[in-house]
Amino acid sequence: MDKNQDLLARREAAQVGGGQARIDKQHQGGKLTARERVTLLLDEGSFQEIGQFVEHRATSFGLDKQKFPGDGVITGYGTIHGRLVYIFSQDFTVLGGSLSETHAAKICRIMDLAMKNGAPVIGLNDSGGARIQEGVVSLAGYADIFYRNTRASGVIPQISVIMGPCAGGAVYSPALTDFIFMVEDTSYMFVTGPNVVKTVTHEEVSSEDLGGAKAHAEKSGVNHFTASNDVECLKKVRDLVTYMPQNARELPPQPSTFEFNPSKLETIKSVLPDNTNLPYDIRKVIDSVIDDHSFREVHEDFAKNIVVGFARIEGKTVGIVANQPAALAGVLDIDASRKGARFVRFCDSFNIPLLVFEDVPGFLPGTDQEWRGIITHGAKLLYAFSEATVPRITVITRKAYGGAFDVMNSKSIGADLNFAWPTAEIAVMGAKGAAEIIFKREISEAANPEEKWKEKEAEYAELFANPYRAAERGIVDDVILPEETRAKVIAGFKMLENKAETLPYKKHGNIPL
Ligand code: COA
Repeated sequence: MDKNQDLLARREAAQVGGGQARIDKQHQGGKLTARERVTLLLDEGSFQEIGQFVEHRATSFGLDKQKFPGDGVITGYGTIHGRLVYIFSQDFTVLGGSLSETHAAKICRIMDLAMKNGAPVIGLNDSGGARIQEGVVSLAGYADIFYRNTRASGVIPQISVIMGPCAGGAVYSPALTDFIFMVEDTSYMFVTGPNVVKTVTHEEVSSEDLGGAKAHAEKSGVNHFTASNDVECLKKVRDLVTYMPQNARELPPQPSTFEFNPSKLETIKSVLPDNTNLPYDIRKVIDSVIDDHSFREVHEDFAKNIVVGFARIEGKTVGIVANQPAALAGVLDIDASRKGARFVRFCDSFNIPLLVFEDVPGFLPGTDQEWRGIITHGAKLLYAFSEATVPRITVITRKAYGGAFDVMNSKSIGADLNFAWPTAEIAVMGAKGAAEIIFKREISEAANPEEKWKEKEAEYAELFANPYRAAERGIVDDVILPEETRAKVIAGFKMLENKAETLPYKKHGNIPL
């Protein structure tokens, strides 16, 4: 065979991974192959492979007779909507996509390139974990990846897509990255699988219930985005990266056009119910302020009492953080604080301005929250906002009570602009509770205590259940009509466009973990 033909034959062999039978099995399980996934994720024809002939060097347990070009992971670079990304895609058809020393080295190679060239890394995970026949060198390979994940954190965006098994030590690379996508029914993540769980705790649980997309989206919060199949998942990844810059030195891309339906300026007037104790969906407020169809909610099914996600305003990416009165009355609890803090830190790392909508009655009371450390976890959100140097605007729609008022991007912790709607109530607590405490004696001694309580509640509400005490002190910068919000936010972010703030010298801060 001539040398060129030899090369073409080798390339062809590299294309088929672990062989047709295993590819068929992958398809029967509702999964695409590693190569099909790369093709769908990247712009057509843009993929440039690196290391397709790499093979492992192991010899134990018959591995010397089981060599596959590429060694179970496809690595390289390409573009998404014309922008450079680095990618690795684990091939389950080759030794279960297990991670060998050389498989890990291939992943490290593209991570190093991504760091030097300032572009995101997207990892498609589908692997049986450390290659058991290789022992400790494959574990060291994982550690090489974890180290790079950590060093790259805040430098370039890192996205993990779980499209098959991801168990044991393997989970810690995705955990260190910025966002995790999972596919329903075909992907799962856990530190120890159902068999070990059964042996140790006697619990019987399926893989899906223990670590499937739903479990991690709703219960643990490990999973940020769920998709019903591989194709939908990869589409969602392509969409999400359009909201991010290439690296921490750049700004997110700005599409040349945007749409805003002016009828939303009418809609926003009637989102809040007349009764201030009734819930409403804060997403309606968000939607009425941002460019049409631009909201990409992160962690949609986790800690629903806070809503976070990316949106665009006049084409520019902003990060939204909003209390959600429709879930648990919008209180801050442990999960909501963790969710909010993590998102704020991503936005601040990557120059994405923050827009906060506030309607918060306080922190969730109770032994469960206290004993699980709401003090420490709540402080995460406070810390994340306080250290953020990106442009930051808050809009108080209704309740802004107690310590939660401070936490939710108040001016005293560095927000640039705070606006309040006329419906805002900015106070230490709600009028009913406040009256009970400060007029305790008067109420108990009154002929009709119930009546007295109501009277005192009204007195307190009259004084504090409005935005004007805060406006008088400059704690909010302006009181605005709901329909004026978009214009105010646009003008505010324009004014803050060149904001340059640096933190005091430090190695790094010590966020309460
Ligand atoms: N190391 C080496 N080979 C592995 C592997 C690993 N960690 N995980 C899977 N494989 C191989 C299997 O031997 C099998 O090879 P074959 O096609 O030549 O028979 C192939 O990958 C497919 O695995 P299989 O078990 O048939 O697939 P499955 O879909 O039924 O199960 C797993 C998938 C991941 C649940 C199962 O393979 C498993 O439990 N793997 C080990 C997980 C683990 O403990 N990893 C080490 C700790 S990090």
